[in-house]
Amino acid sequence: MPQSRRGPPPPAASKSSSSSSRGKQSDRKKNTTTVSNINVNRNEAKNPKAAIDPRVLSQFKTILNTFQHTFSHLFDTPDLPQIIQSVKHSLYLRDYVAAFDSPEKLQAYVVRWSVARALAYFEMIAGGWWSDDVTRAFYTTPTIPAHSNSTTTPNGSSSSSSKGEKRLSITCIGGGAGAEIVGMAAAYSFLNPPVPDITSTEEGSQEQEEKDEGRRGLDLTLLDFATWAPITDSLYTTLTDPTKKESNVFLEKSGFSAKCHQQDVLTPLSDTTISSISSADIVTILFTAGELYSQSPTATTKFFMSLHALTKPGALLVVVDSAGGFEDLDVLKENKNNTATSSGGGGSKNSDSMGGYKLGFLLDKTLTNRDQWQTIASHDAKWWRVPQGLKDSSGYPLELENMRCLIRVYRRNES
Ligand SMILES: C[S@@+](CC[C@H](N)C(=O)[O-])C[C@H]1O[C@@H](n2cnc3c(N)ncnc32)[C@H](O)[C@@H]1O
Repeated sequence: MPQSRRGPPPPAASKSSSSSSRGKQSDRKKNTTTVSNINVNRNEAKNPKAAIDPRVLSQFKTILNTFQHTFSHLFDTPDLPQIIQSVKHSLYLRDYVAAFDSPEKLQAYVVRWSVARALAYFEMIAGGWWSDDVTRAFYTTPTIPAHSNSTTTPNGSSSSSSKGEKRLSITCIGGGAGAEIVGMAAAYSFLNPPVPDITSTEEGSQEQEEKDEGRRGLDLTLLDFATWAPITDSLYTTLTDPTKKESNVFLEKSGFSAKCHQQDVLTPLSDTTISSISSADIVTILFTAGELYSQSPTATTKFFMSLHALTKPGALLVVVDSAGGFEDLDVLKENKNNTATSSGGGGSKNSDSMGGYKLGFLLDKTLTNRDQWQTIASHDAKWWRVPQGLKDSSGYPLELENMRCLIRVYRRNES
């Protein structure tokens, strides 16, 4: 298949990639612009004038359009600033029940906070921040010799594939608020751009067939204890609306599913939750781990420890959180100052103590000490910044925030 018909390849090997994922690199390095080049060009901390890759800028804009179209009614509401303020106040108090107790508050949260996160998650996935393995899992166009029947699994190994056999399955814990569905759909569509209709020639129809065999589809399960389903349903409708595909992130319904399931992950897990975690190629916990620890360090540690038994060998676990914010969750300190906060998960949950552990250290200790998981990407404090080019041109009416992130990606070991 001619290279020009493919989407951008996954990144060249980066520091965080594991040796097992490198086997198929040579097939993918033919394009001169790799996704990791895009990432390097975006290093505005070192060079604020560095030009952003136009394809990335364009996808950032389609992400913003997706939110603006979906919630267009909200931007005309004079009450929006007031609702945002009230959500902010409840979040400051860590009163998550009050923060999310009405549809308007959920929508206000999404347009104010989830948008920047969706931008960040798109770039983190497409740019290899979460390891080459994660990026490659999103990149589904056939990559190895055109007539081979192979595909690449999230753990980088090669497995045989038949038509329609394998879709990328991701379970997002605390993932109801819209950032994951849009950010991941954006990364998926960016890494697998539509192929022009080439079926009019014999060679073209064979190529189209090979492409269809390789394109697997994306299935998201969004687990969250708040009632986000109306939000994710609205976003799904926009993301799969063919009439908006020129301006918004777009995926065909046949290749994309997103289900929101209500679950407090610190309480006994439902069968639906268990089955979604156990079939997932990737499990994400994005800006949620800190909240879980604030609700109950003991139950959260237990939950993280249970993930090994719940997930399949080779599954990837991605945790992103606010870097350095974990001192706030030092329950010892809170108890000492008598300022224990409301968690929304029940008052008694805050009674146990974590001491002063930092989140990254705690995760590493919980997951890797018994060789159940291996770390494949690790950053204690990495800035994601809203690109200046987007700020200058997007016209998005609300603030988009930079983030200083803790990132950990683990691969589940066989045993
Ligand atoms: C800070 S928000 C992050 C949302 C989203 N993951 C993102 O990155 O933008 C935390 C999310 O975790 C959810 N959450 C908090 N505690 C939870 C629990 N015990 N079980 C399930 N979801 C929880 C909240 O409802 C909220 O959607």
